[in-house]
Amino acid sequence: AEGRYTFDPGFMSTASCESAITFIDGEKGVLLHRGYPIEQLAENSDYLETCFLLLYGELPTAEQKEKFVNTVKSHTMAHEQLKNFFNGFRRDAHPMAIMCGVVGALSAFYHDSLDINDYKHREISAIRLIAKIPTIAAMCFKYSKGEPMIYPRNDLGYSENFLHMMFSTPCDGPTPKISPVLAKAMDKIFILHADHEQNASTSTVRLAGSSGANPFACIAAGIAALWGPAHGGANEAVLTMLEEIGDVSNIDKFIAKAKDKNDPFKLMGFGHRVYKNFDPRAKVMKQTCDEVLAELGINDPQLELAMKLEEIARNDPYFKERNLYPNVDFYSGIILKAIGIPTSMFTVIFALARTVGWISHWKEMLAGPYKIGRPRQLYTGKAQRNYVEIDKR
Ligand code: SDX
Repeated sequence: AEGRYTFDPGFMSTASCESAITFIDGEKGVLLHRGYPIEQLAENSDYLETCFLLLYGELPTAEQKEKFVNTVKSHTMAHEQLKNFFNGFRRDAHPMAIMCGVVGALSAFYHDSLDINDYKHREISAIRLIAKIPTIAAMCFKYSKGEPMIYPRNDLGYSENFLHMMFSTPCDGPTPKISPVLAKAMDKIFILHADHEQNASTSTVRLAGSSGANPFACIAAGIAALWGPAHGGANEAVLTMLEEIGDVSNIDKFIAKAKDKNDPFKLMGFGHRVYKNFDPRAKVMKQTCDEVLAELGINDPQLELAMKLEEIARNDPYFKERNLYPNVDFYSGIILKAIGIPTSMFTVIFALARTVGWISHWKEMLAGPYKIGRPRQLYTGKAQRNYVEIDKR
Protein backbone atom coordinates (compact mmCIF):
# COMPACT_ATOMS: atom_id res chain seq x y z
CA ALA A 1 0.00 0.00 0.00
CA GLU A 2 3.01 2.30 0.44
CA GLY A 3 2.94 5.21 -1.97
CA ARG A 4 -0.78 4.94 -2.61
CA TYR A 5 -1.73 7.46 0.03
CA THR A 6 -0.69 11.00 0.75
CA PHE A 7 0.91 11.13 4.18
CA ASP A 8 -0.23 14.36 5.82
CA PRO A 9 0.08 14.29 9.63
CA GLY A 10 -2.06 16.97 11.24
CA PHE A 11 -3.79 17.48 7.85
CA MET A 12 -1.48 20.41 7.13
CA SER A 13 -2.29 20.31 3.41
CA THR A 14 -5.49 18.32 3.13
CA ALA A 15 -8.84 19.90 2.26
CA SER A 16 -11.31 17.44 3.79
CA CYS A 17 -14.44 18.99 2.28
CA GLU A 18 -15.90 21.80 0.20
CA SER A 19 -17.57 24.52 2.23
CA ALA A 20 -19.25 27.86 1.53
CA ILE A 21 -19.48 29.01 5.14
CA THR A 22 -16.17 30.52 6.24
CA PHE A 23 -13.10 31.79 4.38
CA ILE A 24 -9.70 32.29 6.01
CA ASP A 25 -6.58 33.79 4.44
CA GLY A 26 -4.00 32.99 7.10
CA GLU A 27 -1.20 34.95 5.41
CA LYS A 28 -3.20 38.16 5.27
CA GLY A 29 -5.14 37.67 8.52
CA VAL A 30 -8.55 37.66 6.80
CA LEU A 31 -11.67 35.90 8.15
CA LEU A 32 -14.99 36.07 6.30
CA HIS A 33 -18.31 34.45 7.20
CA ARG A 34 -20.40 33.97 4.06
CA GLY A 35 -18.23 36.74 2.58
CA TYR A 36 -18.66 39.26 5.41
CA PRO A 37 -15.49 40.33 7.29
CA ILE A 38 -15.47 39.31 10.93
CA GLU A 39 -14.62 42.88 11.96
CA GLN A 40 -17.86 44.17 10.36
CA LEU A 41 -19.95 41.44 11.96
CA ALA A 42 -18.44 42.08 15.40
CA GLU A 43 -19.07 45.81 15.05
CA ASN A 44 -22.54 45.83 13.50
CA SER A 45 -24.24 42.47 13.90
CA ASP A 46 -25.39 40.51 16.93
CA TYR A 47 -24.85 36.87 17.74
CA LEU A 48 -28.24 35.50 16.67
CA GLU A 49 -28.09 37.42 13.39
CA THR A 50 -24.62 35.94 12.78
CA CYS A 51 -26.07 32.50 13.57
CA PHE A 52 -28.71 33.04 10.87
CA LEU A 53 -25.98 34.10 8.43
CA LEU A 54 -23.87 31.01 9.14
CA LEU A 55 -26.85 28.65 8.96
CA TYR A 56 -28.63 30.02 5.91
CA GLY A 57 -25.96 31.92 3.95
CA GLU A 58 -27.46 35.43 3.97
CA LEU A 59 -28.06 38.16 6.53
CA PRO A 60 -31.74 38.04 7.51
CA THR A 61 -34.31 40.66 6.57
CA ALA A 62 -35.99 42.33 9.58
CA GLU A 63 -38.91 39.92 9.25
CA GLN A 64 -36.67 36.83 8.96
CA LYS A 65 -34.64 37.98 11.93
CA GLU A 66 -37.68 38.45 14.14
CA LYS A 67 -39.00 35.03 13.20
CA PHE A 68 -35.62 33.35 13.79
CA VAL A 69 -35.09 35.05 17.17
CA ASN A 70 -38.60 34.07 18.27
CA THR A 71 -38.10 30.48 17.13
CA VAL A 72 -34.83 30.24 19.07
CA LYS A 73 -36.50 31.79 22.12
CA SER A 74 -39.30 29.26 22.03
CA HIS A 75 -36.71 26.51 22.62
CA THR A 76 -34.51 28.01 25.36
CA MET A 77 -35.78 25.80 28.18
CA ALA A 78 -34.06 22.49 28.76
CA HIS A 79 -36.24 19.47 29.49
CA GLU A 80 -37.00 19.52 33.22
CA GLN A 81 -35.81 15.93 33.57
CA LEU A 82 -32.41 16.88 32.18
CA LYS A 83 -31.67 18.36 35.61
CA ASN A 84 -31.45 14.83 37.01
CA PHE A 85 -28.41 14.25 34.89
CA PHE A 86 -26.43 16.87 36.75
CA ASN A 87 -26.92 15.09 40.06
CA GLY A 88 -24.88 12.20 38.72
CA PHE A 89 -21.79 14.40 38.50
CA ARG A 90 -19.56 15.51 41.33
CA ARG A 91 -20.02 19.20 42.07
CA ASP A 92 -16.29 19.80 41.63
CA ALA A 93 -16.25 18.15 38.18
CA HIS A 94 -14.90 20.27 35.34
CA PRO A 95 -17.89 21.92 33.59
CA MET A 96 -16.58 20.71 30.21
CA ALA A 97 -16.85 17.13 31.49
CA ILE A 98 -20.47 17.80 32.42
CA MET A 99 -21.14 19.54 29.08
CA CYS A 100 -19.88 16.50 27.10
CA GLY A 101 -22.21 14.23 29.04
CA VAL A 102 -25.31 16.43 29.16
CA VAL A 103 -25.18 17.54 25.51
CA GLY A 104 -24.70 13.91 24.46
CA ALA A 105 -27.75 13.05 26.57
CA LEU A 106 -29.93 15.48 24.58
CA SER A 107 -30.44 12.78 21.95
CA ALA A 108 -32.23 10.79 24.66
CA PHE A 109 -34.61 13.72 25.23
CA TYR A 110 -35.27 14.99 21.71
CA HIS A 111 -35.43 11.70 19.86
CA ASP A 112 -38.55 12.87 18.05
CA SER A 113 -36.27 14.71 15.60
CA LEU A 114 -33.30 12.45 14.96
CA ASP A 115 -33.99 11.43 11.37
CA ILE A 116 -30.99 13.04 9.73
CA ASN A 117 -32.47 12.46 6.28
CA ASP A 118 -35.45 14.67 7.11
CA TYR A 119 -34.72 18.38 6.53
CA LYS A 120 -37.27 19.45 9.17
CA HIS A 121 -35.63 17.22 11.78
CA ARG A 122 -32.21 18.67 10.97
CA GLU A 123 -33.64 22.16 11.24
CA ILE A 124 -35.33 21.68 14.62
CA SER A 125 -32.24 19.97 16.06
CA ALA A 126 -30.09 22.92 14.96
CA ILE A 127 -32.45 25.41 16.61
CA ARG A 128 -32.75 23.33 19.78
CA LEU A 129 -28.97 23.16 20.12
CA ILE A 130 -28.44 26.91 19.62
CA ALA A 131 -31.32 27.73 21.99
CA LYS A 132 -30.49 25.28 24.78
CA ILE A 133 -26.71 25.41 24.89
CA PRO A 134 -26.57 28.66 26.97
CA THR A 135 -29.14 27.19 29.37
CA ILE A 136 -27.08 24.01 29.79
CA ALA A 137 -23.81 25.96 30.12
CA ALA A 138 -25.32 28.11 32.89
CA MET A 139 -26.78 25.00 34.56
CA CYS A 140 -23.23 23.55 34.68
CA PHE A 141 -22.03 26.68 36.46
CA LYS A 142 -24.91 26.83 38.92
CA TYR A 143 -24.47 23.13 39.70
CA SER A 144 -20.77 23.67 40.48
CA LYS A 145 -21.68 26.55 42.81
CA GLY A 146 -24.47 24.68 44.54
CA GLU A 147 -26.91 27.45 43.58
CA PRO A 148 -30.40 26.89 42.16
CA MET A 149 -30.51 26.69 38.38
CA ILE A 150 -32.05 29.77 36.78
CA TYR A 151 -34.64 29.47 34.01
CA PRO A 152 -34.10 31.42 30.77
CA ARG A 153 -35.88 34.74 30.29
CA ASN A 154 -37.12 35.25 26.77
CA ASP A 155 -37.65 38.99 27.21
CA LEU A 156 -33.84 39.33 27.29
CA GLY A 157 -31.40 39.14 24.39
CA TYR A 158 -29.36 35.94 23.85
CA SER A 159 -26.21 37.14 25.64
CA GLU A 160 -28.07 39.11 28.30
CA ASN A 161 -30.14 36.02 29.08
CA PHE A 162 -26.96 33.92 29.37
CA LEU A 163 -25.47 36.35 31.91
CA HIS A 164 -28.81 36.36 33.73
CA MET A 165 -28.81 32.54 34.00
CA MET A 166 -25.17 32.64 35.14
CA PHE A 167 -25.34 35.37 37.74
CA SER A 168 -28.91 35.90 38.93
CA THR A 169 -30.32 34.11 41.94
CA PRO A 170 -33.95 33.74 43.01
CA CYS A 171 -33.20 36.20 45.84
CA ASP A 172 -32.56 39.02 43.33
CA GLY A 173 -36.23 39.54 42.54
CA PRO A 174 -37.66 39.99 39.07
CA THR A 175 -35.18 42.50 37.61
CA PRO A 176 -31.87 41.04 36.48
CA LYS A 177 -28.83 43.21 37.09
CA ILE A 178 -27.09 42.74 33.78
CA SER A 179 -24.84 45.56 32.59
CA PRO A 180 -25.50 46.38 28.90
CA VAL A 181 -21.74 46.91 28.38
CA LEU A 182 -20.95 43.41 29.63
CA ALA A 183 -23.83 41.88 27.65
CA LYS A 184 -22.46 43.57 24.50
CA ALA A 185 -18.94 42.30 25.24
CA MET A 186 -20.34 38.79 25.79
CA ASP A 187 -22.19 39.00 22.47
CA LYS A 188 -18.97 40.03 20.69
CA ILE A 189 -17.13 37.08 22.24
CA PHE A 190 -19.90 34.79 20.92
CA ILE A 191 -19.68 36.32 17.40
CA LEU A 192 -15.88 36.05 17.33
CA HIS A 193 -16.03 32.35 18.26
CA ALA A 194 -19.01 31.39 16.10
CA ASP A 195 -17.13 29.54 13.35
CA HIS A 196 -13.62 28.94 12.07
CA GLU A 197 -13.81 26.46 9.18
CA GLN A 198 -12.17 23.03 9.56
CA ASN A 199 -10.52 23.32 13.00
CA ALA A 200 -10.10 20.17 15.12
CA SER A 201 -13.56 20.27 16.72
CA THR A 202 -15.46 21.16 13.53
CA SER A 203 -13.63 18.41 11.65
CA THR A 204 -14.61 16.06 14.48
CA VAL A 205 -18.27 17.04 14.15
CA ARG A 206 -18.15 16.45 10.39
CA LEU A 207 -16.40 13.10 10.80
CA ALA A 208 -18.89 11.94 13.44
CA GLY A 209 -21.76 13.21 11.28
CA SER A 210 -20.44 11.42 8.19
CA SER A 211 -21.36 8.09 9.81
CA GLY A 212 -24.97 9.23 10.17
CA ALA A 213 -24.69 9.89 13.92
CA ASN A 214 -27.38 12.19 15.36
CA PRO A 215 -26.64 15.92 15.74
CA PHE A 216 -26.56 15.92 19.56
CA ALA A 217 -24.00 13.10 19.56
CA CYS A 218 -21.96 14.97 16.91
CA ILE A 219 -21.93 18.20 18.93
CA ALA A 220 -20.92 16.26 22.06
CA ALA A 221 -17.97 14.94 20.02
CA GLY A 222 -17.13 18.51 19.01
CA ILE A 223 -17.21 19.64 22.64
CA ALA A 224 -14.80 16.84 23.57
CA ALA A 225 -12.37 17.82 20.79
CA LEU A 226 -12.57 21.49 21.75
CA TRP A 227 -11.62 20.79 25.36
CA GLY A 228 -7.89 20.25 24.71
CA PRO A 229 -5.47 23.05 25.66
CA ALA A 230 -4.07 23.24 22.11
CA HIS A 231 -7.60 24.14 20.90
CA GLY A 232 -10.50 25.67 22.88
CA GLY A 233 -8.97 24.85 26.26
CA ALA A 234 -6.34 27.49 25.54
CA ASN A 235 -8.42 30.36 26.99
CA GLU A 236 -8.47 28.61 30.36
CA ALA A 237 -4.81 27.64 29.98
CA VAL A 238 -3.87 31.31 29.42
CA LEU A 239 -5.18 32.26 32.85
CA THR A 240 -3.57 29.23 34.50
CA MET A 241 -0.28 30.21 32.84
CA LEU A 242 -0.59 33.81 34.06
CA GLU A 243 -1.14 32.51 37.57
CA GLU A 244 1.95 30.33 37.24
CA ILE A 245 4.09 33.21 35.95
CA GLY A 246 2.82 35.22 38.90
CA ASP A 247 4.84 38.37 38.45
CA VAL A 248 6.28 40.54 35.65
CA SER A 249 9.76 39.72 36.94
CA ASN A 250 9.25 36.04 35.98
CA ILE A 251 8.25 36.66 32.34
CA ASP A 252 11.76 36.21 30.90
CA LYS A 253 12.08 32.82 32.61
CA PHE A 254 8.82 31.60 31.06
CA ILE A 255 9.67 32.99 27.62
CA ALA A 256 12.93 31.00 27.82
CA LYS A 257 10.96 27.86 28.75
CA ALA A 258 8.60 28.37 25.77
CA LYS A 259 11.61 28.58 23.43
CA ASP A 260 13.36 25.53 24.89
CA LYS A 261 12.62 22.50 22.66
CA ASN A 262 13.33 20.12 25.56
CA ASP A 263 10.61 21.78 27.63
CA PRO A 264 6.97 20.94 26.78
CA PHE A 265 5.84 24.37 28.00
CA LYS A 266 4.30 26.60 25.33
CA LEU A 267 3.03 30.14 25.62
CA MET A 268 -0.72 29.57 25.80
CA GLY A 269 -2.75 31.91 23.62
CA PHE A 270 0.08 32.27 21.10
CA GLY A 271 0.38 30.78 17.63
CA HIS A 272 -2.13 29.37 15.18
CA ARG A 273 -2.10 26.63 12.58
CA VAL A 274 -3.58 28.85 9.87
CA TYR A 275 -2.84 32.46 10.82
CA LYS A 276 0.74 33.33 10.11
CA ASN A 277 -0.21 36.92 10.68
CA PHE A 278 -2.32 38.51 13.41
CA ASP A 279 -5.60 36.64 14.03
CA PRO A 280 -8.23 39.23 12.96
CA ARG A 281 -10.45 38.07 15.83
CA ALA A 282 -7.65 38.82 18.29
CA LYS A 283 -7.54 42.45 17.09
CA VAL A 284 -11.27 42.94 17.81
CA MET A 285 -10.92 40.99 21.05
CA LYS A 286 -8.07 43.22 22.23
CA GLN A 287 -10.13 46.33 21.51
CA THR A 288 -13.14 44.85 23.36
CA CYS A 289 -10.82 43.92 26.20
CA ASP A 290 -9.62 47.54 26.48
CA GLU A 291 -13.23 48.80 26.42
CA VAL A 292 -14.42 46.37 29.09
CA LEU A 293 -11.50 47.11 31.38
CA ALA A 294 -12.00 50.85 30.95
CA GLU A 295 -15.74 50.54 31.63
CA LEU A 296 -15.26 48.39 34.71
CA GLY A 297 -12.27 50.40 35.89
CA ILE A 298 -10.48 47.15 36.70
CA ASN A 299 -6.92 47.42 37.86
CA ASP A 300 -5.87 43.81 37.95
CA PRO A 301 -2.15 42.98 38.24
CA GLN A 302 -2.77 39.78 36.24
CA LEU A 303 -4.06 41.83 33.32
CA GLU A 304 -1.02 44.05 33.52
CA LEU A 305 1.10 40.91 33.47
CA ALA A 306 -0.75 39.67 30.36
CA MET A 307 -0.13 42.93 28.51
CA LYS A 308 3.56 42.90 29.43
CA LEU A 309 3.91 39.27 28.35
CA GLU A 310 2.29 40.07 25.02
CA GLU A 311 4.68 42.99 24.45
CA ILE A 312 7.80 40.99 25.32
CA ALA A 313 6.79 37.94 23.23
CA ARG A 314 5.85 40.04 20.23
CA ASN A 315 9.27 41.65 20.18
CA ASP A 316 11.21 38.41 20.71
CA PRO A 317 12.96 37.07 17.53
CA TYR A 318 11.85 33.44 18.29
CA PHE A 319 8.15 34.40 18.15
CA LYS A 320 8.65 36.85 15.28
CA GLU A 321 10.46 34.31 13.07
CA ARG A 322 7.74 31.71 13.62
CA ASN A 323 4.89 34.21 13.20
CA LEU A 324 3.59 33.43 16.67
CA TYR A 325 1.10 36.16 17.51
CA PRO A 326 -1.44 36.28 20.33
CA ASN A 327 -4.56 34.42 19.17
CA VAL A 328 -8.24 34.90 20.01
CA ASP A 329 -7.93 32.91 23.23
CA PHE A 330 -5.27 35.15 24.68
CA TYR A 331 -7.64 38.11 25.08
CA SER A 332 -10.96 36.30 25.49
CA GLY A 333 -9.83 34.80 28.80
CA ILE A 334 -8.92 38.23 30.11
CA ILE A 335 -12.32 39.71 29.17
CA LEU A 336 -14.21 36.75 30.63
CA LYS A 337 -12.27 37.12 33.86
CA ALA A 338 -13.14 40.82 33.99
CA ILE A 339 -16.84 39.99 33.44
CA GLY A 340 -16.61 37.73 36.50
CA ILE A 341 -16.75 34.37 34.75
CA PRO A 342 -14.63 31.72 36.49
CA THR A 343 -11.75 30.21 34.54
CA SER A 344 -13.25 26.72 34.42
CA MET A 345 -16.19 28.12 32.39
CA PHE A 346 -14.06 29.70 29.65
CA THR A 347 -13.98 26.69 27.33
CA VAL A 348 -17.68 26.06 27.98
CA ILE A 349 -18.35 29.56 26.65
CA PHE A 350 -16.25 28.81 23.56
CA ALA A 351 -18.32 25.63 23.04
CA LEU A 352 -21.55 27.59 23.48
CA ALA A 353 -20.52 30.09 20.79
CA ARG A 354 -19.08 27.46 18.41
CA THR A 355 -22.22 25.31 18.48
CA VAL A 356 -23.67 27.30 15.58
CA GLY A 357 -20.49 26.77 13.54
CA TRP A 358 -20.51 23.04 14.22
CA ILE A 359 -24.18 22.68 13.37
CA SER A 360 -23.85 24.82 10.21
CA HIS A 361 -21.06 22.53 8.96
CA TRP A 362 -23.05 19.43 9.89
CA LYS A 363 -26.09 20.76 8.00
CA GLU A 364 -23.98 21.77 5.01
CA MET A 365 -22.45 18.30 4.82
CA LEU A 366 -25.80 16.52 5.03
CA ALA A 367 -27.37 18.81 2.41
CA GLY A 368 -24.88 17.75 -0.26
CA PRO A 369 -23.35 14.49 -1.39
CA TYR A 370 -20.90 13.17 1.20
CA LYS A 371 -19.10 9.98 2.11
CA ILE A 372 -18.23 8.50 5.46
CA GLY A 373 -14.85 9.90 6.54
CA ARG A 374 -12.30 7.10 6.40
CA PRO A 375 -8.64 8.16 6.23
CA ARG A 376 -6.00 5.52 5.56
CA GLN A 377 -2.66 5.16 7.33
CA LEU A 378 0.96 4.29 6.66
CA TYR A 379 1.37 0.98 8.48
CA THR A 380 4.64 0.80 10.46
CA GLY A 381 4.07 -2.49 12.33
CA LYS A 382 5.30 -6.07 11.86
CA ALA A 383 5.01 -7.93 8.56
CA GLN A 384 2.77 -11.03 8.51
CA ARG A 385 3.94 -13.80 10.86
CA ASN A 386 2.56 -17.02 12.31
CA TYR A 387 0.91 -17.43 15.69
CA VAL A 388 3.32 -18.78 18.37
CA GLU A 389 2.03 -21.14 21.07
CA ILE A 390 2.28 -19.67 24.57
CA ASP A 391 4.96 -22.14 25.76
CA LYS A 392 7.18 -21.24 22.79
CA ARG A 393 7.24 -17.40 23.32
C1 SDX B 1 -7.80 27.71 18.68
O1 SDX B 1 -7.67 25.94 14.06
C2 SDX B 1 -8.51 26.76 14.56
O2 SDX B 1 -9.21 27.39 13.86
C3 SDX B 1 -8.58 26.84 16.06
C4 SDX B 1 -9.25 28.07 16.65
C5 SDX B 1 -10.75 28.08 16.35
O3 SDX B 1 -11.33 29.16 16.29
O4 SDX B 1 -11.33 26.99 16.22
O5 SDX B 1 -8.66 29.26 16.15
C6 SDX B 1 -9.15 28.09 18.17
O6 SDX B 1 -7.66 26.55 18.93
C7 SDX B 1 -6.66 28.71 18.82
C8 SDX B 1 -5.32 28.07 19.27
C9 SDX B 1 -5.26 27.99 20.74
N1 SDX B 1 -4.07 27.26 21.21
C10 SDX B 1 -3.08 27.83 21.92
O7 SDX B 1 -3.06 29.03 22.16
C11 SDX B 1 -2.07 26.86 22.45
C12 SDX B 1 -0.65 27.34 22.17
N2 SDX B 1 -0.42 27.27 20.77
C13 SDX B 1 0.10 26.13 20.17
O8 SDX B 1 0.24 24.95 20.84
C14 SDX B 1 0.21 26.07 18.64
O9 SDX B 1 0.66 27.31 18.19
C15 SDX B 1 -1.05 25.64 17.88
C16 SDX B 1 -1.60 24.30 18.37
C17 SDX B 1 -2.15 26.69 18.00
C18 SDX B 1 -0.68 25.49 16.38
O10 SDX B 1 0.17 24.42 16.20
P1 SDX B 1 0.87 24.03 14.81
O11 SDX B 1 0.20 24.68 13.67
O12 SDX B 1 1.01 22.55 14.77
O13 SDX B 1 2.29 24.72 14.93
P2 SDX B 1 3.60 24.04 15.45
O14 SDX B 1 3.33 23.41 16.74
O15 SDX B 1 4.14 23.17 14.35
O16 SDX B 1 4.55 25.28 15.67
C19 SDX B 1 5.49 25.79 14.74
C20 SDX B 1 6.68 26.27 15.53
C21 SDX B 1 7.31 25.15 16.38
O17 SDX B 1 8.69 25.51 16.54
P3 SDX B 1 9.84 24.82 15.57
O18 SDX B 1 9.72 23.32 15.79
O19 SDX B 1 9.51 25.25 14.17
O20 SDX B 1 11.14 25.38 16.10
O21 SDX B 1 6.30 27.28 16.49
C22 SDX B 1 6.52 26.78 17.83
C23 SDX B 1 6.64 25.25 17.70
O22 SDX B 1 7.39 24.70 18.76
N3 SDX B 1 5.35 27.16 18.62
C24 SDX B 1 5.39 27.68 19.85
C25 SDX B 1 4.07 27.97 20.18
N4 SDX B 1 3.26 27.62 19.18
C26 SDX B 1 4.04 27.12 18.22
N5 SDX B 1 6.42 27.91 20.67
C27 SDX B 1 6.11 28.45 21.88
N6 SDX B 1 4.86 28.77 22.27
C28 SDX B 1 3.83 28.54 21.44
N7 SDX B 1 2.58 28.83 21.81
